[in-house]
Amino acid sequence: MQQFGVIGLSVMGKNLALNVKNHGFSVSGFSIDKPEVDALAKYEDKDLKPTYTWEEFVNSLEKPRKILIQIMAGKPVDETLQKLLPLLDKGDILIDGGNSNFHDTNRRAHEMAKHGIHFFGMGVSGGEEGALNGPALMPGGDEKAYEEVAPILEAIAAKTPTGQPCVGYIGSEGSGHYVKMVHNGIEYGIMQIIAEVYDVLRTAGNYSNNEMSEIFANWDKGALQAYLIEITSKVLKQKDDLTDDNIIDHILNEASYKGTGNWMLEDAIKLGAPITVIAEAVLARFMSKATFRDGTAPKMDQARAPKDLVDKLGKALYLAMAVSYAQGFEQMTMAANAYNWKLHFSTIAQNWEAGCIIRSQMLHDIKFAYNSDPDLKNLFKAPFFAKVMNSNLDALKEVVQIAAEAGVPTPTLSAALNYLESIFNPRLPQNIIQGQRDYFGAHTYQRNDRPGTFHTEWYEEK
Ligand code: 6PG
Repeated sequence: MQQFGVIGLSVMGKNLALNVKNHGFSVSGFSIDKPEVDALAKYEDKDLKPTYTWEEFVNSLEKPRKILIQIMAGKPVDETLQKLLPLLDKGDILIDGGNSNFHDTNRRAHEMAKHGIHFFGMGVSGGEEGALNGPALMPGGDEKAYEEVAPILEAIAAKTPTGQPCVGYIGSEGSGHYVKMVHNGIEYGIMQIIAEVYDVLRTAGNYSNNEMSEIFANWDKGALQAYLIEITSKVLKQKDDLTDDNIIDHILNEASYKGTGNWMLEDAIKLGAPITVIAEAVLARFMSKATFRDGTAPKMDQARAPKDLVDKLGKALYLAMAVSYAQGFEQMTMAANAYNWKLHFSTIAQNWEAGCIIRSQMLHDIKFAYNSDPDLKNLFKAPFFAKVMNSNLDALKEVVQIAAEAGVPTPTLSAALNYLESIFNPRLPQNIIQGQRDYFGAHTYQRNDRPGTFHTEWYEEK
C-alpha cells in the first residue's frame, strides 16, 4: 500500500510526487492523460507506482488516503471530485494544490465534509523547481486532519535558513488558497515596484542592462535579498539567442496574468481593504495592454539624477516592498475577521520565508514582528518597520519626484508613498467628502467632537 497519492502528473504534479518519494514515502501517481503516467512509469522505482484507472489509484493507497490533486484550477477540480467520491471512505483526505479560487475551496470543503471527506485547499508556490526541491505550502482545511498529512508536507516543504519547514496549518475552509492568493497579490506588487525601479535606473540614470544587473545583484547581497531581486539581475544580463543584444530589450512590454492578483483585488473591494500598491500593480498590467497608449509622444526632459540615485532607489525599493507585504497582511487581517478564520501571521510569514516566489530576507523580520505581537494591526506599527519607514521615506519621496521629472510612471512607488502618508495622517480630507455627501443626498455624517449621526440643512428650500 502506498502512503500518498498524486492526481495530475504534469510538471508540478510529477515533481511533487518525486519530492514526496525522495523523502522516503511511497507514492501512487494517476492522470487522465496516459502519457503522463507512462512518463512516471519510466522511473521504475518501487516507491513510485504508476496507476492507469481511478480504481487502481484509489485502491493502491493506505487508509486514511492522502491524495494531492495537482491539476488546472476550475471545473477539472470538480470533475475530479465527482470521480473520486464514490471510491473514497470516510476520513480520507483530499488536497487541492492548484491555484483555486478560495470561494470554490470553501464550497468544496463543505460539500466534501457532508461525505466525511477532509478537503484541503493548499497554496503551492515555487514553480517547477520548488515543487521538486522544496516548495512553500499553505494548507487550509480541517485542523485535526492536518496532523495526518503534516509529516509528509513538512518533509517536502522548503526550509527556512534556520531549518524550519515552510508549511504550517493556515486555517479552515478556503483560507489556504486565500493566503496563496494574497501571496500572488504581493508578488504582483513587488514585481511592479522592481519594474518601476528598473525604469528609473535606465531612464533617469542611463544605466546599461549589464550595469543594472550588477546593481540588482548587489542589492540581493544585503537587506534587499529576495528571490525576485535575484532573478531580475539574471533577466537583465541574459543574452538573446536571435540578436547580439540582451534579451530584455526584445521582450514585448505587455504583461500577462492568470488572475490570482486580480482575485485579491476583487476581495479587497468586498472587504474595503486599502491595498493600493497591489491594486496599482494589477492595473499596471492592464495599462501595459491598454487599447490606447501612444508611444509617439515627445520624450520628456531628462531628469537631473543625483549621484546617489542607486542608493536612493535601493531605499525606496526596500520601503515600497515593505508596503506591499504590509498591505497583504492587512487584507489577511480583515479577511480573518470577516470570514472567521484564525490566521497565524507569523506562521504565514514563515511559510513564505523560503521556497516561494516572494521569499526574502524581509519576511524573517515580518515573522519576528508578528511573533512579538500576534495582533499587530499594521506592519508599520512594529518597531522594526517603523524604523524602516523613518529611514527610507525621504528616499522614496525623492525617487517619486525624480521619476516624475523624467516622465517615468511610478504607480506602485507612488502608491506606497501615498499609503504611508495616509495611514499616519490624522487629517485625511474625507471630511469634505462626507460634507458633500450630506449636502447632495442627506447621507449624514459623524462628528469628531461628539458621538451620534448628524445631518445639516445646507441650503434654503425654495
Ligand atoms: C507561485 C506563483 C504561481 C503563479 C505565477 C504566474 O507562487 O509559484 O505565484 O503560482 O501562477 O506567478 O502568475 P500570473 O500568470 O498571474 O502572473
